[in-house]
Amino acid sequence: RIAYVNGQYVPHRDASVHIEDRGYQFADGVYEVVTVTGGRMIDEEGHLDRLWRSLNELRMAPPMKRAPLKMVMREVIRQNGIRDGIIYLQVTRGVAPRDHPFPKNTPSSLVMTAKRLSMAKAAKTAEQGVSVITVPDIRWTRRDIKSVSLLPNVLAKQEAKDRGAYEAFQVDDDGMVTEGSSTNAWIVTKEGRIVTRPTSNSILAGITRASLIRELEKNDIEIELRSFSVEELLDAKEVFLTSSTSYVLPVVKVDDQVIGNGHPGIVSQKLRSIYENFMA
Ligand code: PDD
Repeated sequence: RIAYVNGQYVPHRDASVHIEDRGYQFADGVYEVVTVTGGRMIDEEGHLDRLWRSLNELRMAPPMKRAPLKMVMREVIRQNGIRDGIIYLQVTRGVAPRDHPFPKNTPSSLVMTAKRLSMAKAAKTAEQGVSVITVPDIRWTRRDIKSVSLLPNVLAKQEAKDRGAYEAFQVDDDGMVTEGSSTNAWIVTKEGRIVTRPTSNSILAGITRASLIRELEKNDIEIELRSFSVEELLDAKEVFLTSSTSYVLPVVKVDDQVIGNGHPGIVSQKLRSIYENFMA
C-alpha cells in the first residue's frame, strides 16, 4: 500500500508525520472519506466542497488548490489499485512546537490513504440489516465541521461494538436523535413518512444524505426534514442510516427493540437500490 504524505508517495508502513503535528497534539485538523466504486470517486465535488468549508470554519488554509488535490487523490487510488474502497484525506494545521494559538507561517499537513472494501460483504450486511444502540450525544456544538476530534464518536462506536451493534445513534439533551457516530440517522414513520434531521451545527451534513435527498426528489418521493425523538425511533416502521462507507443501510433493531419484522423494510431497500443506481 502507498500513502501520500506532504508531497510524497511513500510505502504505507513508512508513512509518518512529526510528533508535534497539531493533529496529533490538539486534534487540530479535518478529514474526508470518499467512496470509490468501479475506480471512480462518488460525490468527489461534494466532499471537496465540505472539506473547503471545514477548513474555512477553522481558519485553516487549504493545503493546495482544488485541481492538484484532485490529481493527488486519483494518483493515490491508482497507485493502490483501488476499484472498490475508500480514500481517506486529512488536513491538519501543521507541525509546530506545542502552543494552543495558531502557529505562524506553518504549512498545513496533508495525508491520504486508500483501502479496498468488499462490495460483497457490504451487500450481505445490507441484506441482513444491522442493529444500533442509542447513547447520549456528548460532543461539542460544531458537529457540522468534519474534525478529526472524534473521541466521543470513538467511545460511542466502541459501546455499540461491545453491545454487538453496528452503530450508536447519539441523542441530544432534548431526547432528539442527532446522528450516528459516523453516519446520519433516518426513520420511516408508521404513516410512511421518510424523516431525517435538517442540517445545522448539531449534525454533520452527510454527503450520502444529501445525494439520497436529491435522488428522492428526482423520483418524486417526499421526505420530511425534522428532528425525531428516541420514542419515534423505537416506534418507527423502518430505520436506516447513511454514510460514505455504509451507503443506505437498513436498521432492524434499536437497543433491544426489534424494528418492523426484524428484516430490512421495503422503503429502506428501495432507497438503497435508488442510491446504488446513483453510484453505478
Ligand atoms: N463518517 N455523521 C458523522 C458524525 C460522520 O462522521 C459521517 C461520515 C457521516 C456521514 O457523512 P457522509 O455521508 O458524508 O459520509 C455523518 C465517515 C464515513 C467516517 O468518519 O469514517
